[in-house]
Amino acid sequence: MSPRNYLLHTLMVASCILSPASTLGDEEQNHTEKTEMRNARMEWWREARFGMFVHWGLYSGLAGTWQGEKVVSAGAEWIQQRARADTWIYAHEAVPHFRPTLDFAKEWAKLAKQAGCKYVVFTTKHHDGFSLHDSSITTYDAQDLIGRDLCKEITEACKAEGLKVGFYHSVIDWHHPQYDYVTGRSLPHPLSKKPSPNGPRNHELYIDYLHHQAKELMSNYGTVDIVWWDYSKNEAAGSFWRADDLMAMVREHQPNIVSNNRLYHSFKIKEADERLKAWKPEQGDFTTPEQHIPSTGLPGVDWEVCMTMNTTWGYSEHDQTWKSDEVLIQNLVDIVSKGGNYLLNIGPKGDGSIPEASIQSMASIGRWMEVNGESIYGTTASPFGKPAWGRYTKTPEILYAHVFQWPEDGKLSITAEGIQVSRAYLLADKDQDLQFEMTTDGPLFSLPENAPDNQVSVIAIEHEITK
Ligand code: GLC
Repeated sequence: MSPRNYLLHTLMVASCILSPASTLGDEEQNHTEKTEMRNARMEWWREARFGMFVHWGLYSGLAGTWQGEKVVSAGAEWIQQRARADTWIYAHEAVPHFRPTLDFAKEWAKLAKQAGCKYVVFTTKHHDGFSLHDSSITTYDAQDLIGRDLCKEITEACKAEGLKVGFYHSVIDWHHPQYDYVTGRSLPHPLSKKPSPNGPRNHELYIDYLHHQAKELMSNYGTVDIVWWDYSKNEAAGSFWRADDLMAMVREHQPNIVSNNRLYHSFKIKEADERLKAWKPEQGDFTTPEQHIPSTGLPGVDWEVCMTMNTTWGYSEHDQTWKSDEVLIQNLVDIVSKGGNYLLNIGPKGDGSIPEASIQSMASIGRWMEVNGESIYGTTASPFGKPAWGRYTKTPEILYAHVFQWPEDGKLSITAEGIQVSRAYLLADKDQDLQFEMTTDGPLFSLPENAPDNQVSVIAIEHEITK
């Protein structure tokens, strides 16, 4: 079938096939879980601290350029909406540029592993509606358009490297003919504010389609460790997506899955927001500050900062504003010192290859993690305030001092009440004990003249706390 016929077929199939509406009992709908069970389910995620996010789909080959013009630099995965193109025109432009190499997924997984990530979350479907997985309910998927189940390839490659796997899935869908951007008026759409070309839309039909695809994802790829929904806003949240049913289905197929809260809540919730206090874990295990780090963390809540390395999630050839390795590593430390996880994004090109700047930065983070990883994995938020020179992370026995600014006079003061140091050393030189003296404020360390790490040097302080 020609791509045009595939698309026409997709539109017809999508509007005709319905999965039966879910009929769940009260028990499943009022999902509550004992704290110990939730803690057991969350354990690996809380220890992992660092994951790789991947935005990749039809938009990647367009690279921020639409019919020869630069359209978008930041947020290139939104190019269809920026170009105000319908699915047919968009796919016509994008499909020829979407040509994944045979081994692209292995390269991603290797890079994530080398960087020290413990998990990978990738876009099974972004807002454009194109599915990387083989979907029985549409032909607007990788299997039908390029003959490969890309979701399977990525999932298997990640698992082969021992990484946990997360499925990002957009509940917004610009391709589906019943996706009702008029009712969900807070949500973006290439035609927003314009009437629907196919007449009034039946939102429930789209929701059936969404649930059907989610069920395929939860059933056909073995264990899925994370489901990462994107996104809700104002009235288009929770029941708008029939979210309780959706989550009950997800839990039925993947009992240990960890989920974000974007099916119910806007990701714009900031730290002081009352809505954060009202949010319950059954509406998603963790919240997702996007492109910013909460200044003092989010106590009592699991959270993960997602962030780009430049300013776009999907690949843009126009965006060269890369964060330095120092910033990336300091962000990781900053987040972990406040009790969060870091989900750092790469935006591969249309052939699946990763931009060179991202490869270099991930490799550099990996070199840092090889030496200093024990101060990240399984550590928790610092009990002490932010010191001027850097950050703290900790385990019950060790306090890690992450030094961003190496002191010129070679003296580093730890203002930590009641701390009794038994031994301290640099993670970059574990055999060499550091000298220290006790002052009324806490221990004062004598450091070598030069910082052992260019970005962040870490001192491990074995101690007891006495009051
Ligand atoms: C927002 C954007 C989207 C990106 C996501 C990552 O929801 O719409 O393009 O995928 O954030 O967190």
